[in-house]
Amino acid sequence: MDVFQKCFDFKRDLEVKAAGLYPFFKTIEGNFGSRVVIDGREVVMAGSNNYLGLTRHPKVVEAAVDATKKFGTSCSGSRYANGTYVLHVELEEKLADFMKKEKALCFTTGYTTNMGAISTLAGRRDIIFSDRENHSCIMDATMLTFAETKKYQHNDMEDLDRILQGSDPEAGKLIVSDGVFSMKGIVANLPEMVRLKRKYGCRVFIDDAHGFGVIGKNGRGTGEYHGLETEVDVVMGTFSKSFAGLGGFIAGPERVISYVKHHARQLIFAASMTPASVAAVTMALHLIRTEPQHLENLRNVCKTVRNEFRRVGFSVPEGDTPIVYIKVGEDEAAFMFWKELLGLGVYTNPVITPGVPKGQSGVRASFMAIHTQSDIAHVIDAFTTLGKKYGIIK
Ligand SMILES: Cc1ncc(COP(=O)(O)O)c(C=O)c1O
Repeated sequence: MDVFQKCFDFKRDLEVKAAGLYPFFKTIEGNFGSRVVIDGREVVMAGSNNYLGLTRHPKVVEAAVDATKKFGTSCSGSRYANGTYVLHVELEEKLADFMKKEKALCFTTGYTTNMGAISTLAGRRDIIFSDRENHSCIMDATMLTFAETKKYQHNDMEDLDRILQGSDPEAGKLIVSDGVFSMKGIVANLPEMVRLKRKYGCRVFIDDAHGFGVIGKNGRGTGEYHGLETEVDVVMGTFSKSFAGLGGFIAGPERVISYVKHHARQLIFAASMTPASVAAVTMALHLIRTEPQHLENLRNVCKTVRNEFRRVGFSVPEGDTPIVYIKVGEDEAAFMFWKELLGLGVYTNPVITPGVPKGQSGVRASFMAIHTQSDIAHVIDAFTTLGKKYGIIK
């Protein structure tokens, strides 16, 4: 049997392309912040994770350019060897201070941060308790470790309690959850998780990719949002969303960070974040700490879009995150809805099976601090037109 046979048998991409509905790897020809150019025309970007809108902030761009001029385009090696620059160390110190943790450690992507940290922290004789809807890099991390993994129903603390109760009391226990769930923007039930942590003697690891720089009074994420920062043993964040760069970090107790630093293969055997990315993230962090308007704008945008979606009849849960998920139905219907939205000048992301259960496919809209009233009105008009056409709203 040819090892490539599965590739020759795979035809789904060709079928969807032939139907004119293929939504993936869409090419963006220009980026003006809340507007981008796709297929030669300007559309509203309602599908980016650039929540604070800082990727084009002049000071962020300048910091990235300056760092490139000073240090070059690549560090050409891993943090462990030749790839730790003064910039990385400075950023880690600032992150630890911001997150009120003893130490922080940066990886080259958010994906490898979870892979490296979780697979290193949980080993033989340990158990990972993982939300069924955690991000795929958490799933991949659990496959890399020798630890047993037990999945609990999405954000269902009764189910987590039941599973913890039936687990070996002597095993090391790590509860791992997204802080803000990436597809639907729901915030994890941290208060209940913390109660269970205390009851069963567990540690809590929160992936705050979509919470860091978004929720909490100062943008410190899910822990701050719930007033439980000190109860999150290790917090993980990505720089590819609110922090205008590429990379990720964990923050936590000094000994824990040192252990990960000296054991995580994804850190030791991968080249470090580029100077441009580290400098952009450091500047983004500075702006978040010194210019409260970015978070304030984001909060206002979140409130406005949720109210507007509800006003026109969509069922959108209460919440404070910039992610709005609209269920359409089967995959094909979601593809068509997505395509027609783009036709009306709004770019979103389709979410299909297996990302969501069958029949719950839809589009994920995400909003940024830089969206104007007119961008939002445009998005709501387009959703209203199609919501009626697809029978989602009256
Ligand atoms: C919850 C969550 N964790 C981790 C990641 C990976 O982060 P990155 O894309 O920065 O590697 C993502 C990315 O989408 C995410 O949504």
